[in-house]
Amino acid sequence: MSNKEKIDQHQSDNTKTSKEKKVKDQLEQLYLTVKKHDISYYKDHNPLISDAEYDDLRRSILEIEQKYPSLVNANSPSLSVGAEPSEKFKKVNHSTPMLSIQNAKNKEEVISWSDSLRNFLRIDSTEKIDYVAEPKIDGLSASLIYEDGILKLGATRGNGKTGEDITENIKTIKSIPHVLDRKKTPKLLEIRGEVYMSHDNFNLLNKIQDKQGKELFKNPRNAAAGSLKQLDPNETAKRSLEFFAYAWGSVSFLPYDNHYDLINFFKELGFPTNDNFGLFKSIDELIVFYEDILERRAALGYDIDGIVYKINRLDWRERLQSTEHHPRWAIAHKFPAEKAVTKILDIEIQVGRTGVLTPVARLLPVNIGGALVSNASLHNFEEIKRKDIRVGDTVWVQRAGDVIPQVIGVIKEKREKNLKPISPPEICPVCNSKTIRDKIKTGKKEKEEKYIRCTGAFNCSAQLIERIKHFSSKSAFDIDGLGEKQIDEYYLEGLIKSPVDIFYLEEKYKNNPPSFWKYTSGPRLKIGTIKESALKLFNAINKKREIDLDRFLFSLGIRHLGLSSADLIANYYKSINKMLENITIDNIEVSKQELLSLDGVGEKVALSLIDFFQNNDTRQLIIQLIQSGVTVKQYNKEVKETKISNKTVLITGTLKTMSRAEAKVKIELLGAKLSSSLSKKTNFLIAGDKPTLSKVDKANEYGVRVFSEQEWNDFIAE
Ligand code: IVH
Repeated sequence: MSNKEKIDQHQSDNTKTSKEKKVKDQLEQLYLTVKKHDISYYKDHNPLISDAEYDDLRRSILEIEQKYPSLVNANSPSLSVGAEPSEKFKKVNHSTPMLSIQNAKNKEEVISWSDSLRNFLRIDSTEKIDYVAEPKIDGLSASLIYEDGILKLGATRGNGKTGEDITENIKTIKSIPHVLDRKKTPKLLEIRGEVYMSHDNFNLLNKIQDKQGKELFKNPRNAAAGSLKQLDPNETAKRSLEFFAYAWGSVSFLPYDNHYDLINFFKELGFPTNDNFGLFKSIDELIVFYEDILERRAALGYDIDGIVYKINRLDWRERLQSTEHHPRWAIAHKFPAEKAVTKILDIEIQVGRTGVLTPVARLLPVNIGGALVSNASLHNFEEIKRKDIRVGDTVWVQRAGDVIPQVIGVIKEKREKNLKPISPPEICPVCNSKTIRDKIKTGKKEKEEKYIRCTGAFNCSAQLIERIKHFSSKSAFDIDGLGEKQIDEYYLEGLIKSPVDIFYLEEKYKNNPPSFWKYTSGPRLKIGTIKESALKLFNAINKKREIDLDRFLFSLGIRHLGLSSADLIANYYKSINKMLENITIDNIEVSKQELLSLDGVGEKVALSLIDFFQNNDTRQLIIQLIQSGVTVKQYNKEVKETKISNKTVLITGTLKTMSRAEAKVKIELLGAKLSSSLSKKTNFLIAGDKPTLSKVDKANEYGVRVFSEQEWNDFIAE
């Protein structure tokens, strides 16, 4: 080599190393970033970036690693999954690792995946590949180990190699069987699937959190994670989690040679599997399925973030094997994100029926998962303070199914200067009355409620309109043709300014019809039709002049009083007159004791009911309603006595003719209680298939009557 050549070579080596060093630094930086996000997602359940952004980060890593394989080191997230297991639970080693899954953003990437499989397996284009497809559930993966058909262990994924032992919590998930049919089940069977929370249960849980003054969960996944990782399984049990089985881990024997049949086999064993599951013969068919589910996404009732495609044949999977990070035989075709970034244009305050001031963010409209979102709930002023949300901020907004869009956080880096923090209003924006913050008692301590309320009551038009709407609504007076829109109009016209006015509407119409006509139906209708619709409304009102006491109480819009406590209270006092006589300002303490003695009525309800009855304005409302011709019927709820009224029933073993959930509903409908343990107080024991023998023995010892499932069905049918 000439000197010049040597120098050139040296220089080129130098540039190469400095370039490589740059790439190496970049890669290390990416590793650190992904690790950070792994911890916030998997461990803290509090993601800081969107899934799409996270996927992009991982993708960049993969691209670099493919180009520079020598730079890959042990820190690479491509070599691991999830985050380290928590210290709180016992650790479990997964004998078959619980891997992650590779992602495809679009059809092209799905095709290139399938092409690479064809190459790998040397399948030519004339041969068909069978795929299975099903939704990718946005929950937490779990492993359930059954030995001789008995649930022995439930574990989280953790870092893929080691997870957490959450057996007791898993056992509280009602749809997960504890015992399987021994004849059909392999000696060792590890079922894998997703633990998740439905939208309904999520909304309910957040309502309860809210009522108890606790922080709200951001999304169903987050709530499921929080619930599954409770140290006290009783807490998990309260949270209504669900499960879908979609894979398996270590098994002593597999009765089928393909995924489709195996999933059906799991279903037969009693595992919940996803009904949106199918066998497909081409990528085109997979895409049709993807589009279909994408369209129905919001109606599924739980969060999904894509569709998982899997090769059906197990012999092919065996040959394809896995990387350290994911199996080659599966891919997740992701859905467009349900989170988006937008700007807060304004924060408006809504005043509800009971005076609660709720801040709502008006947003620069943004498309989230196919729907245009322009408003999002901010819940209350504590939330605004906690998240430090200001008008003008750039924020993450999330929408999932039928969950109300929420502002999940501010992107502080994008905050412009001079945005002012929001302080809770001291006066009601509608009526200018003072606002207050209620105190709640928890045990001996008194705490401030998160809510701010307007003290204007009936003087606040916002509260008044909401009260009238509530009064006329389905579960209250249920007046046909007097919906929200009509009430707004009548209120503006001055025709209905209190629930009482509803019952004088006909009289007002007769005295002064023209102004009423104007607002009944709008200008497009001919006079004849207007008259007709007015008469129809009066008819509907007159039909509802008679009402049951529980509905009547509910329709008054008393704070904290729901239908079920209204029922308990009505059943106790029986008549509205008795309530007016008993619950007065001179009798507060006695009334409180009486109300609290009712099983199911708590302090909040009792105090608020007393407040309503002894306060002059609200008391007058009741009296005026009666004077206007409303008849509140004597409350004579028929409680049909049944053979099992007030009895306690216990079920052991598996039922054949119905699920446990159905059995519970039936038992409760007949006035009995389903209990979870056997005691001397138990009246009946239903022994299904494979009952716990010790329970049956104990029942016999205590003299508890024992039924087979068939005997029980006959007994309650008699
Ligand atoms: S298949 C690794 N099917 O996605 C391949 N995974 O797997 C075996 N996930 O964290 C898993 N729904 O929690 C599969 N229908 C589904 C799924 C699903 C959700 C999750 C699972 C795991 C991640 C990657």
